[in-house]
Amino acid sequence: MQEKWTPSGWRAKPAKHIPTDYPDPAALARVEDTLRSYPPLVFAGEARNLKASLAKVARGEAFLLQGGDCAESFKEFHPDAIRDTFRALMQMAVVLTFAGAKPVVKVGRIAGQFGKPRSEPTETINGVTLPSYRGDNINGMEFTPEARIPDPERLLKAYSQSAATLNLIRAFAGGGYADLHNVHRWTLGFVEGSPQGERYRKLADRISESLDFMAACGVTPDTTPQMRAVDVYTSHEALLLGYEEAMTRVDSTTGDWYDTSAHMVWIGDRTRQLDGAHVEFCRGVKNPIGMKCGPTLEPDDLLRLIDRLNPDNEPGRLTLIARFGAEKAAAGLPRLVRTVQREGRTVVWSCDPMHGNTLKTGSGFKTRPFDRILSEVRTFMEVLPAEGAYPGGVHVEMTGQNVTECLGGATEITEDALSSRYHTHCDPRLNGEQALDLAFLVAEALRGARVEARRAKAG
Ligand code: PEP
Ligand code: CO
Repeated sequence: MQEKWTPSGWRAKPAKHIPTDYPDPAALARVEDTLRSYPPLVFAGEARNLKASLAKVARGEAFLLQGGDCAESFKEFHPDAIRDTFRALMQMAVVLTFAGAKPVVKVGRIAGQFGKPRSEPTETINGVTLPSYRGDNINGMEFTPEARIPDPERLLKAYSQSAATLNLIRAFAGGGYADLHNVHRWTLGFVEGSPQGERYRKLADRISESLDFMAACGVTPDTTPQMRAVDVYTSHEALLLGYEEAMTRVDSTTGDWYDTSAHMVWIGDRTRQLDGAHVEFCRGVKNPIGMKCGPTLEPDDLLRLIDRLNPDNEPGRLTLIARFGAEKAAAGLPRLVRTVQREGRTVVWSCDPMHGNTLKTGSGFKTRPFDRILSEVRTFMEVLPAEGAYPGGVHVEMTGQNVTECLGGATEITEDALSSRYHTHCDPRLNGEQALDLAFLVAEALRGARVEARRAKAG
């Protein structure tokens, strides 16, 4: 029998990656109290809708697309950046929907993705050692002793930025921008002339033709208002549990606890200890929960974590996000999938091809070779069906901006080019073009699976 859950119960458990060096803990407590009085960012009913959509993914009837910044920042907060990430997500979703002929569940790593677990607690530059940067909701990125001191006021700023970001996303999603008739307008300027841009234009032409055909048959946004809007959900890593606790409220409709900071939250690969604070917190909120699964996760431990996080085997509750790295995926992933299948646990399997494929260049840039990212996705798309499971989604760090952070891709970003537009506040992201390229690769695998299924049905 599990102990009774409370939103603050995590405080009695060992917690990794939550700062303990706030100079004034009373000030932090005051900020958390203020947050407790602020409006929820999402409504519990929306989290339930997402869970229902993820249940479809778990049954192989839909596909999950989750993406956005590694870390949002105060400096990069700009409507154009939000719009461009939205457009890149929409483009990827169109490519995936068309190929898979299944709905794509769209979840941004956005409107709350600030705090970062760091491999090293300190950073040394030119002989000077300071605490690491931990995300804009904790401390500042500038390499000065003052900036690196955790400041609770940053939580309030992160809340406001999340609220404004979410507001714009809701406006885009429901206000007509996401109408499929705009499919040609989502192409980002710098992607236009590229091979991916061209490929996308052809696909968009076919969609436009289909829409014309449907209009001729009398199906238009006026007769079918769903054509004008999409559902876009938000998510982030539930890392700073003080913030998450303050945003956790009882849903008046069901009496259940929901973390209203986002529709979905996930547990990172560094904080998934069975008896740790993060698992304790997440087990009690009814949102859909994600959990990163890296190479150090053993099948038995995974089962115990599933028992803890989804004891009722509720479909859509738990998304397992595999992040092995291109080399390790083929050996590590099948054991986990096989165990979950054997034990009859219903989960969504998603692939994060980013976090296992990070390296540092000679000149000190953290980067990811695009080839390795694609290779891990390919392995995932092969391993899951081979184990009788469904490859349910992808989880990527991406931006709509024309950044140079990941090596390779169609424009062949080289090591020398990385410095030209390297803006990330933490990990290197796919730019709009690389993200589209990745979507086409996944689309091919989905189309292949669809053709195979049709053949099998025809006998
Ligand atoms: C992340 O998603 O930014 C992250 C830190 O991932 P992981 O927990 O898988 O390392
Ligand atoms: Co990251």
